[in-house]
Amino acid sequence: MYVAFEGIDTAGKSTQIALLKDKMPDALLTREPGGTPLGEKIRAILLESGGASARSEALLFLADRAEHTERVIRPNLQKTILSDRSFLSGIAYAHVHEKLPVDVLLQLNRFATDNLLPDRIVLLKIDESTLRSRLDQKSHDAIERRGIDYMMAVQRCMEELLDLLGIDHIVVDAAEPPSAIAETIYNYLKEGLTNA
Ligand code: TMP
Repeated sequence: MYVAFEGIDTAGKSTQIALLKDKMPDALLTREPGGTPLGEKIRAILLESGGASARSEALLFLADRAEHTERVIRPNLQKTILSDRSFLSGIAYAHVHEKLPVDVLLQLNRFATDNLLPDRIVLLKIDESTLRSRLDQKSHDAIERRGIDYMMAVQRCMEELLDLLGIDHIVVDAAEPPSAIAETIYNYLKEGLTNA
């Protein structure tokens, strides 16, 4: 089962993945961008330097995703894969940043993944004041520097996409205590493993 964790920056995806690893020790943890040697290089280009034009940025994320899908996701589909981000981030961040049409972005993502999309998506949804206070407590990468309005629009886009795409998903309140969120997600994933 291929599970993607989604949500805007500071929603707590990595914390949740780490908590779930304790409950699912056999799960394979991975991430986008990153997750492969090439992907780590692309990640550094995108997040440390910034400044790529919007279309080249979208294509670099797609190159990362193509590599990640081919080298990490596809060969491990018999395992439980917990991925920090997926094509959903790919579409939402690019759509809001550049106003590229969703149908074009979806097609590009289908090309990059050769049609391999997550079986389940966990969306951690954060409210604006929690986002604001969490962002105040950390340094910002090139994308986070686009600001709160941008991120809230990305989150709305992620929710709309989930309604549109028909992929099995759960939306969780990111302001709840981490252990309670982990329990909710674990119960949701357990049900998927039983049905698989
Ligand atoms: P993160 O690993 O801390 O979540 O950082 C990745 C950043 O890259 C985050 O701001 C979201 C952004 N992003 C995109 O803009 N497009 C994408 O396709 C992906 C996977 C991430």
